Formats: sequence, structure tokens, C-alpha cells
Amino acid sequence: MKDKDLQVHTRLVHSGQDRDPFTGGSSVPIYQASTFAQPDPDHPGAYDYSRSGNPTREALEKSIAELEGGTSGFAFASGMAAISAAFFMLKSGDHLIAPEDVYGGTYRILSTLLKQWGLQTTFVDMTHPERIAQVVLPNTKAIFVETPSNPLLKITDLDTVAAIAREHGLLTIIDNTFPTPFLQRPIEHGFDIVVHSATKFIGGHSDVIAGLAVTRNEELGRRMKAVQNGVGGILGPQDSWIVLRGIRTLAVRMEAQQRAAQTIAEGLAQWPQVLKVHYPGLKDHPGRAINERQSAGPGAVLSFELEDGVAARRALAGVKLCFPGVSLGGVESILSYPAKMSHAVMLPQERHARGISDGLLRLSAGLEDPQDILKDLKQAIGV
Ligand SMILES: Cc1ncc(COP(=O)(O)O)c(C=O)c1O
Repeated sequence: MKDKDLQVHTRLVHSGQDRDPFTGGSSVPIYQASTFAQPDPDHPGAYDYSRSGNPTREALEKSIAELEGGTSGFAFASGMAAISAAFFMLKSGDHLIAPEDVYGGTYRILSTLLKQWGLQTTFVDMTHPERIAQVVLPNTKAIFVETPSNPLLKITDLDTVAAIAREHGLLTIIDNTFPTPFLQRPIEHGFDIVVHSATKFIGGHSDVIAGLAVTRNEELGRRMKAVQNGVGGILGPQDSWIVLRGIRTLAVRMEAQQRAAQTIAEGLAQWPQVLKVHYPGLKDHPGRAINERQSAGPGAVLSFELEDGVAARRALAGVKLCFPGVSLGGVESILSYPAKMSHAVMLPQERHARGISDGLLRLSAGLEDPQDILKDLKQAIGV
């Protein structure tokens, strides 16, 4: 099923393999096998060993490649494994440009492990794309983007970044976890590699850790395949099946959760205890117009600022309905405290310089009635 003319709702249900190619089953089975018989090693079948290829994982990989509009899809054991695989396209001595409020785990590997391997990174505020061009060095090889960003929901102009990258011959990599291909398809804007934490909206039920990557062309696909097979951070067949099931309901979940996020963001913005709400669906969000141009919606994640860390911790401890913890994108609303969770790895002064204050909370809207979530937040914040 490759018909790009179909609407995204239809593609989410039918992309990749909407049935088992071997039995016609309505769901691709969990092929729980590590190895596949090769009686004639000169003429191996389609599969030999599950690190190199597994039918359940392959169904998922085809699905995400079609949804993102790329040539090749890859499923990994986590979002970080997918992101790391994309960084394997670079080598020691290369320079990368990344957003200053990039997801904490990505910041951590760039500023520790990959730095030790000789990859140099400059972090910039990508809401001003001209700053990207200003930090391009002779050894710059790639730009990494996250839009909306985590946790400040900043918007980066995809077309402008892709144009800068073309001008300087740079690879473009984007973390599309927050919007998912339901809302935003960066390859259509000229990006080369799209990565996801499928743990979030794509999986959708807070019950699996998974990562996905899609390449724009076959050449990058071959290089990514070599990394996936060589390094081996593959997604197992059971988890591949869970993610495949998540994809089929992504549209209805995302639409409902996005509506809820809008209601919650507007509600929070009325309360004097809330100093600022960051959500691209709000009228005063500085990136709203760009987001509307490149994405089908503002998504279901927002963040908001209380007076200080004491107020934020009180709210986190006080919620009765929202799930207080890390992660996002589940059917339940999840309230996170970036300073101590997703961005705990940053030193306080670095975090503050990036605008991630001690009073900042991030909310991923779930499928509950948003009025119930507002009531819960009201009592937890003490409005
Ligand atoms: C934007 C973003 N990218 C990547 C990741 C990492 O994904 P995973 O936890 O599946 O490794 C996360 C996790 O919170 C995230 O929010």
C-alpha cells in the first residue's frame, strides 16, 4: 500500500502491511524466532537471523517508512538507540549543530559519550535559523532539529533549516517524536533522516520502549541498515507488534489529545499562579504561524511555569489524576518535572540559560476529559 494520495488517517490504518503476507491474518504475527533455516546457504531466504531482519519488525519498518514518506524504515530498542544510530552517520572530527533545548537524553550523549568519540556539537537557539548559519564550521556535517522542542515547545522553521543545510551540504536529522507523522512529515520539507521515540505517541499506551528511524533515500537507508545490523540495537518482535498496533489508532488518539491540550493550555493561561504557558496552539506563541505552515497541529504536549521549584514540586506531588513521572504520549495525562527528570543531566546554570526554569512543568494531555485534568491541576497548584 503505497498510495500517497490516501489521507493520513487511512494510511495509519493500512500502511506497511495491513495483513500477514504469509497467512492473510489481520494482524502480522509476532515472529518470535532468532534464526531462520538456511539449508542451502548459497540461496538464503528473505530472513536468516532476527538481528538482520524479522518479519514482525519489518512490517513496522515498512509502515513508518511509508508514513514519513521515506524509502527505508528501521525499528530500534529505544528512541535513544534510533537517535544514536543517526549519529553513527557522522564520524570522529565532525561537527554537529543541535538545538539548545534538545531532549535531555540527546544532550547527554552529545555532551559526554559522543564528545569522547570526537564528535563536536554546538547548541543554538533554532527559533533563529540565522544563528545556525553563523555557527557552521569547515567540519560541520549535520544539523539536528527537534520541533516542537522538549520541554519549551519552541518551533524551528523546517524549510529554512533544510535550505541552510543544502547550501552548506549538511545532513539534516530531526526528532519527530512530539508531532509524529500524523501531524508533521519532515522529509516533505527536505529532511534526510527522521527519528522517533515510539515510546511516546506512536506506541501511545505507556507500555513499550521503542525507537524508529526513516531515511529519505536508499543510500542513507543502506548506511542506516549497516548501523542497525552492526550495532544491533534492534526492536524485538513483541515490542514491534505493540508499536504496530499503536500506529493504527494514532490519528484518533492524537486528535483527541491535541484538543485536550488546547483546552488545558487555555485554562492554565487564566490562572495567576501560572506565569507562562508554552503551547504552539496559543495565540501568543511566537512560533505559532510557522508551526501552522509546517504541521497539521500544535500537538498534545505543553509546558507551564509556576513561581519556583517549591511550587512545581508541590503540584507534582499534589496531582491525583495526572500521572506524575517521566515520558509523554500515553492515553493518560502525564505531568513531568523537566529540571529533575528529562533535563536533570544539565547543570542548573546550563538549564536556566536555556530557559528551563525550576518552576517549569510539562504536561502531556491524555484521553481524559480535559475539564477533569484542569480540576486536578487546580487543586494541585492551589488556584
Ligand atoms: C523528544 C524525545 N526524543 C527522544 C526521547 C528518547 O526516547 P526513549 O526514551 O524511547 O529512548 C525522548 C524521551 O523522553 C523524547 O522526549
